[in-house]
Amino acid sequence: MKLDEVGRRAFSEISQADSPKRLEDLKVKYLGRKGEINQLLSEIPKLSKEEDRRQAGVLINEVKQKVEEALAAQDFKLRQKTVKEIKAAPFDLTEPGLDPESGSLHPLTRLREFTRDTFEGLGFEEVSAPHLDTDEHNFSLLNIPSEHPSRDLWDTLYLEDDRMMRTHTSNMQVREMRNRKPPIRVMTFDRCFRYENIDPKHSHTFSQFEVLYVDKGVSMGHLKFLSDLFLQKIFGEKTQTRFRPKYYPFVEPGVGIDALCPFCGGRGCKVCGMAGWVEIAGAGLVHPTVLKNGGINPEKYSGLAWGFGPDRMLMVKLGIDDIRHFNGGDLRFLKQF
Ligand code: PHE
Repeated sequence: MKLDEVGRRAFSEISQADSPKRLEDLKVKYLGRKGEINQLLSEIPKLSKEEDRRQAGVLINEVKQKVEEALAAQDFKLRQKTVKEIKAAPFDLTEPGLDPESGSLHPLTRLREFTRDTFEGLGFEEVSAPHLDTDEHNFSLLNIPSEHPSRDLWDTLYLEDDRMMRTHTSNMQVREMRNRKPPIRVMTFDRCFRYENIDPKHSHTFSQFEVLYVDKGVSMGHLKFLSDLFLQKIFGEKTQTRFRPKYYPFVEPGVGIDALCPFCGGRGCKVCGMAGWVEIAGAGLVHPTVLKNGGINPEKYSGLAWGFGPDRMLMVKLGIDDIRHFNGGDLRFLKQF
């Protein structure tokens, strides 16, 4: 009978199968949709007697089940064999292990470390201020009273207990002035938050690098020297910068610091938005009222302060086209650095 022949052949081939691949092939050959057993099942309707048809079905299914069992048993046997082989193989102590995948520092972390080293070399001490702070430190002590229109530029998220997400690192200024005596040289490189319309250039979370220097005779000359030094270290010796008059309530005079776009050399391109220059900092001489709020006599001392935008700087330096990449956590972005 044909069923017996198929069954016998299947068992003998399965018991001789010596690889998972061969076993898989046999499974297809006998149990597959177009396999030999289904072939037999499809012939049942050709039998004339009802009784024969019924019996043929039962017998074929029995064989089918046995073939399934044989396949599973042989599979088990093959696995046992590989385990045995592995155990028996000589162990090579000198074979190098697999390298664990190593991470890399976030570009902002690298810039922060570089900046810290540079300014520590110039006598600045790194400080920090709360991310969640009071209106006083973020605004009013910085000469921005509650009705001041410039607050519109610094909209943020407010907590019910009167604290708020700081909008800039300038909230460190009065704190540090109150805790120290001139000469004061401090810096901070940390996160700030704003209620922004999110787009490629604006994020609700971004970094600032703030410096505060208070001493006798601190001038715009010091500001120019320090910011040029910093920018040349980041963008290279040939970097050109310019100061533009700009208003901030906590400095007088106030400036915006621009760098010549390193991509187009000032001709105008996509990166600088056709301006030729990229604004990367706000700065100025500390306003006398702010010095007073910090317990420092403005008749005797003056100070400079700036807030650089490291995200912007890195975008320009590394050709990053969207500020949201910095906090997006996408490994494809991070692995490029
Ligand atoms: N805090 C300002 C801002 O966030 C930048 C700034 C810092 C300006 C220090 C002047 C002095 O835009």
